Amino acid sequence: MRIGVLTSGGDCPGLNAVIRSVVHRAVADRGDEVIGFHDGWRGLLECDYRKLDLDAVGGILARGGTILGSSRVQPAHLRDGVERARGHVSDLGLDAIIPIGGEGTLKAANLLSEAGLPIVGVPKTIDNDIASTDVTFGFDTAVGVATDALDRLKTTAESHQRVLIVEVMGRHTGWIALHSGMAAGAHAIVVPERPFDIDELTALVGQRFSAGKKFAIVVVAEGAKPRAGSMEFAQGTRDVYGHERFTGVATQLSIELEHRLGKEARPVILGHVQRGGTPTAYDRVLATRFGWHAVEAAHRGEFGMMTALHGTDIRMVPLAAAVETLKTVPAERYAEAECVL
Ligand code: F6P
Repeated sequence: MRIGVLTSGGDCPGLNAVIRSVVHRAVADRGDEVIGFHDGWRGLLECDYRKLDLDAVGGILARGGTILGSSRVQPAHLRDGVERARGHVSDLGLDAIIPIGGEGTLKAANLLSEAGLPIVGVPKTIDNDIASTDVTFGFDTAVGVATDALDRLKTTAESHQRVLIVEVMGRHTGWIALHSGMAAGAHAIVVPERPFDIDELTALVGQRFSAGKKFAIVVVAEGAKPRAGSMEFAQGTRDVYGHERFTGVATQLSIELEHRLGKEARPVILGHVQRGGTPTAYDRVLATRFGWHAVEAAHRGEFGMMTALHGTDIRMVPLAAAVETLKTVPAERYAEAECVL
């Protein structure tokens, strides 16, 4: 069998572990040939690739990023994107393509699958917002980075008796904010799923100071927005691919809270540090299992499917269902966190 693998969209710790696992299972165990496309879908659309053998994936398990490179280019961005991809798959004699990616990548994978290409998707994102899988690799690492940052920020917030508003990633969902906020004992957690009311947030943080505490930590997901009419808020713009680009909810909140509370407030934007560096053991294991199962699915001819974690088992789920909606933070999960704020 000849398999093409690619990593697309925002990178995330664990991508190399999947690539390594695919190559080990396919090349060493199954006698397949594997090629890796460079920079995600761009590599497939431009036929830019290299052969991946066991040497090529030596020593990459613990390395962050992706040895194949990534981009946000998608077949749908080109008028002839689907036809180009089909042509290259046929020219290269590929029997299966394993795209590893998040929401946008998996939507593109589903599009190509519906056009008849042999696709087996592997979900990844630090945001943990892909439906049909309990967890995506990268999330555990990102939560660890954010939690470590919050622990550190507590000491400086206390020294200066400040409110620190810490912005973590999460365009549409607040999983990183929720988990890192719970893990670090934040005093308020603001997620996109629950537009915030600035009066309520001010009261929550204010109560802490009234109770004699000297500082407060607010964790906010980058995509969080105020309830309509709650406060003036600069909306984001769009990037070249049409994705929303945020204008700093932490900065806007820090100005508002400082003014309302009469306490020094500072924004801290963690940004891409959450996506960098070595994956945790949990993410390496999940990524490795996804890679193994993706190769097996390809051999069974189970195309149009995606690897998923259900409990402790890896299952294959339809791509079409996985990309229908995002996995948002349920109210009950938020309530569990709220009770320990
Ligand atoms: O999709 C993952 C993600 O980390 C989002 O949380 C974040 O908004 C986005 O990527 C940032 O992407 P970029 O690297 O294009 O700035």
